[in-house]
Amino acid sequence: MSATTADGALRALTDRLGGRIAYGGDYNPEQWPRETWREDARLMQEAGVNLVTVGVFSWAWVEPAPGEWDFSGLDEVLDLLHAHGIAVDLATATASPPPWFATRHPEAMPVTAEGVRLSHGSRQGFCPSSPVYAEAAARLVERIAERYRDHPAVVLWHVHNEWGNHNAHCFCDTSAEAFRDWLRERYGTLDGLNHAWGTAFWSQRYGAWEEVLPPRATPAIGNPTQQLDHWRFSSDALLACHRREVEVLRRLSPDTPLTTNLMGTLEKKVDGFAFARETDFVSVDHYLTAADPEGHIGLSFDADLARGMGGGAPWLLMEHSTSAVNWQPRNIAKTPGQMRRNSLAHLARGADGIMYFQWRQSRAGAEKWHSAMLPHGGTDTKTWRETAALGAELQALAEVRGTRVRADVALLFDWEAWWALELDARPSVDVRYLDLVRAWYAALWSSGTACDIVHPGADLSGYRLVLVPSQYLVADAHAEALERYVAGGGHAAVGFFSGLVDVHDHVRPGGYPGAYREMLGLRTDEFHPLRAGESVRLDDGSAATVWTEAVELRGAEQVLAFAKGEEGGPVPGGPAVTRHAHGDGTAWYVATRPDRDGLARILRRICGEAGVAPVAEVPEGVEAVRRTGPGAGYLFLINHTGADARVPARGIDVVRGTPVDGTAVVPAGDVLVVREDPAAG
Ligand code: GLA
Repeated sequence: MSATTADGALRALTDRLGGRIAYGGDYNPEQWPRETWREDARLMQEAGVNLVTVGVFSWAWVEPAPGEWDFSGLDEVLDLLHAHGIAVDLATATASPPPWFATRHPEAMPVTAEGVRLSHGSRQGFCPSSPVYAEAAARLVERIAERYRDHPAVVLWHVHNEWGNHNAHCFCDTSAEAFRDWLRERYGTLDGLNHAWGTAFWSQRYGAWEEVLPPRATPAIGNPTQQLDHWRFSSDALLACHRREVEVLRRLSPDTPLTTNLMGTLEKKVDGFAFARETDFVSVDHYLTAADPEGHIGLSFDADLARGMGGGAPWLLMEHSTSAVNWQPRNIAKTPGQMRRNSLAHLARGADGIMYFQWRQSRAGAEKWHSAMLPHGGTDTKTWRETAALGAELQALAEVRGTRVRADVALLFDWEAWWALELDARPSVDVRYLDLVRAWYAALWSSGTACDIVHPGADLSGYRLVLVPSQYLVADAHAEALERYVAGGGHAAVGFFSGLVDVHDHVRPGGYPGAYREMLGLRTDEFHPLRAGESVRLDDGSAATVWTEAVELRGAEQVLAFAKGEEGGPVPGGPAVTRHAHGDGTAWYVATRPDRDGLARILRRICGEAGVAPVAEVPEGVEAVRRTGPGAGYLFLINHTGADARVPARGIDVVRGTPVDGTAVVPAGDVLVVREDPAAG
């Protein structure tokens, strides 16, 4: 998928929805009697729903016994939806093999690292490398595609559902065989594998391919590169499943676009960038972490990542929740207005469709305590009223469709770096990938600065500033690309414990931080991670946690130091933040984890030097995002605070049609979308 193709495919889809923003959710009619379907279709119309995802868990409904097909229910539902003007994102239904599948093919069920074979009775019960699953799934996708490719309701194919959400890592014998094939392909010879895995260590040398296994439970720390390769292999094995479905759909239904709902940072095991390339446009699911008072910043991160996975093109929010979920330790309901803020924040960051899990709240099964658009209480509920109101509001916002968010800052995100960083036996368990990238992002978010979240292999030339909060593992080519970007006049900021290992998780020799030493103009001799809960002070008074290190300047200048004396921690007076002129550009290093305000100050200075300006001057807790198109700019102002906010803006309030004359007043908890005067932005 190229960004231009994605623009086109999603545009064509929303054109088929009458030029509207897509609005709807997962619809699971098999859970309900026929009478309810009719009520559903009527209420969907009432709520402004124009697209629903059908069939995600319908395998047992359409193939109740092996090779026995019954599409009568699905036929009726699709006809009914079409008659009500509701389009369908039709799932391939491969996400939940029925009990007959597991009973017939117990060998196709996934096995844990400890050797436990999992049982049916849940969902996603299959080993990603299983040939019998591949065959059964391909047959199912063929049947569905053949039957519904010309159905007028079907505007989109929904491949599988959340690849790898539950079954990504399998350790069975079939997976072992597939892992060996994958390794043969990667390394060619056993010598190559022995070198990459560093098997000279602890007498792990492999003399025959049959000896090579997935990283099953071991007495002591397992081989790190074996583990890393298993993460890679597992993501690729799922990608192979994805490709098989895509092949069938392209062959039988070439004119209907396809996507698969990715999970962004909610799924560590699946490399979202790799899957995104093999869809017609990106779609993602996002669920707020209810316990996190700054969950809305996490939401922004994932929305920016969704845009980054699609090369900047608009994308589809395939699932989020109207209120509480059911799978967090404490499932907190959304406060009045919070769902709208969440949904419009996704829209602000480039979504052209807002969908939920699920349309009607289940009465039975594992997700009956998960909120839905139509709750147990029916239409006389807060959630229903908010759902219907948002449906109407999105109609008024249709004109933002197709516009794009433009950012001067790129933040590098990489699943491989995440996997490698969090393997066993590292300097500190407190060095966690999402914690670091989110901390940098949050500091930038609070200043109202737009940011694209992109893969290290992305074209960086259009950005004024590249942030690299954490990149323990970096491929040579990616390290060189960043170096060239800086030497050519770019600005980059790199976080601690980055650049250290190559793609085999082998340490780059000559001192830390490995690949970035020259560019940063410094060398670190030894790391000094902090104790749990320990905090040190920097010489600007801010606090920092998790990490310190002994940085020796070799051309870089010190911008901030660890405080002198005891409060400076293990390296009192040593450099904590540095700046280095490299070629025509500048490279910064942050050798600790400063608190929010400290990091925000550092990033403000870096942005200032790089010529990066915020989208708008906003009070703390107010989010400002701009989408721009050929003729217009749309400033989204989202007030996450309990106080009214005033933000400089000029234009028309798109929903209310009223003028905004220099100052937008955004009431507490409210959202305003301003079509800006052409001169603005
Ligand atoms: C995922 C799945 C859905 C549902 C939701 C619940 O996103 O795709 O089927 O289970 O989680 O939050």
